[in-house]
Order: sequence, then C-alpha cells, then structure tokens
Amino acid sequence: MRRLRSSKFRPFIRETTLDVKDLICPVFVDETISEPFEINSMPGYFRHPLETVADEASSILELGIPAVILFGIPEKKDETGSHACGDDDVVQKAVRAIKQQVGDDLIVMTDLCLCEYTSHGHCGIVNEKQEILNDPTLEILAKTAVSHTRAGADIVAPSGMMDGMVGAIRRALDDNDFKDIPIMSYAAKYCSAFYGPFREAAGSGYAFGDRASYQMDPGNADEALREVALDIEEGADIIMVKPALPYLDIIYRVKKKFKMPTAAYHVSGEYAMIKAAAQNGWLDERGVVYESLISIKRAGADMILTYFAKDMARELNSE
Ligand code: PBG
Repeated sequence: MRRLRSSKFRPFIRETTLDVKDLICPVFVDETISEPFEINSMPGYFRHPLETVADEASSILELGIPAVILFGIPEKKDETGSHACGDDDVVQKAVRAIKQQVGDDLIVMTDLCLCEYTSHGHCGIVNEKQEILNDPTLEILAKTAVSHTRAGADIVAPSGMMDGMVGAIRRALDDNDFKDIPIMSYAAKYCSAFYGPFREAAGSGYAFGDRASYQMDPGNADEALREVALDIEEGADIIMVKPALPYLDIIYRVKKKFKMPTAAYHVSGEYAMIKAAAQNGWLDERGVVYESLISIKRAGADMILTYFAKDMARELNSE
C-alpha cells in the first residue's frame, strides 16, 4: 500500500478533492451597525453593516467562491417577525446592494427563517401556550421568500424546519412568476448544541424552551431520510444536512439514497471549536480545517457552507 503514498503519487491517486467551487460563504448583515463587528464566540468572523456588505460579497467572489448565504439582523423584532418580509427589510436591502455592486456572477442565497426577526427568538409563530405554530408560520415564510426573490435573491434557503415549508414556498414563488428560483432546503436539520455561537452571531437566542419541537433528534437517522424525501416531493432542488462533521453518516445516507445536489452546513460551533483549540496552540488550524472539509465532501456533500470558506479558498488558490 505504501508505494502510492509518496509525495509524487499521493495527489495523483487522491479520490476526493476540495474545490473553491464547493464552498458557500455565510454572511451576516446587521442593520444596526455601521462598522464590521467581530462576533465574540466566532473569532475572525464579522457581522457586516448594510453600507459595506457588498464589499464583503465582492471579496468573496474575487476568491472564486461561487455563492454566499445571507443572514439578516434586523433593527426591530416583534412577536410575528414582521420585519422578515418587507421589501425594505435588512436582507432585501442587502441583496439589492450586492446585486447592484457585484453583479450577477455571485450566487446570492438567502436564509429564510423567522428566528432572527421574532422577539422570542423561535423559528415560528408562537401561541399563548408557548407552542410553535406550524401552518401560520408557512404563510410568513412564503411571503418572505417572495420578497427575497423580488429583491434579486438567486436561491432561497428555508431553515426553520416547519413541516410543509418547501411546498408553501414553492407555490408562492410559482404564483409570483419566480418559477425559475431554486429552493435549497435545510432538510435534515438537527436540534444541535453546535449552533451556540450562531445565536450570538445572528442575535437569535430564544427566550424560552428549545428548538426540539421542530428540529431533529440527534439519535435519529432514518427520520432524516423521511425529512429529505418529503422536501424533495415538495419541490426542494438542493437538500442540506446540518451540522456536518457530527452527521457524516447522514450526509452519506442522504447522498446515496437520493442522489440530489447535497449541501452540508459546517456550523458555527464547528468553527468555534477549531478556532479555540488553534488559539490555544492545541490544534493546527489549517490542517484541521482541510481535513474537516474534505471529510464532509468524501461523505457525499457536493457543497459545503462553512465559515472557513474564505480561508480555504485562499489556501486552494495558492496551491
Ligand atoms: C436559523 C438558523 C440557525 C442556523 C442557521 N440558520 C440557528 C438555529 O436553528 O438555531 C445555525 C447556523 C450555525 O450554527 O452556523 N434557523
């Protein structure tokens, strides 16, 4: 076996390779700030103000990364997340700014969820018994999808794990002349402690309870296949598994069974762990990032949403 492990042959026989084109870069856009703001639990990662979010998008495209996914931090939150769906709300403004400045070469995806916009921080409408209501939430998500698309979004990405969300969004897009806009569904999204830093990043911590009534139980794998099947039936074009590294088996099974364009989300906690260990000198950041991302790809992901997208792109470009 060692004959092909020399530095000459290793790259030659490598079965899985990482490409800049595999990467999707998350971008946080915050309407309450005027300067980039570093996220405490995600060292080296920033929220961007509306004024400069297009510069950030442009620097991402310059590295050869084909796509960004936008997360909005609104000025005002309320019970029903009503500032998610206005044409002049934060994500809609950011999409327009990016499209105007960067042009159409960059794929602009928008994360579609209410948790950044609701005062209680849950991903849906809540009743007086603190239950998260499914169907009333669908209407708002559908409306939000249409407004993102009207602003110029190329792909919408519902992440709230409401049942029927893909179908509701597909119908709304079709009815509004957006038949060509694909949906990337967060199809198998687990109720994960690895989202901790994201809640600081996006200002979406919740006031009560947890997300277990809508996100998946980490113990379940067959259920992920049912989730994915439903989303495909409802019209999802790209499906996602999230988080990534702790769920490589799910990525593998989903890709094997459905053979769909499959995305994996290397989430905020996965970023924070590596950063923290690297800052302590306990892990080699470059090596661990490469190994994490190549493993996610090897498991079956076609594309990876990762906060290391820019770093990885620089690395790949310099090879
Ligand atoms: C919103 C959303 C979350 C993430 C992406 N979209 C948070 C959550 O569901 O709690 C997490 C991303 C990350 O941790 O990097 N629903």
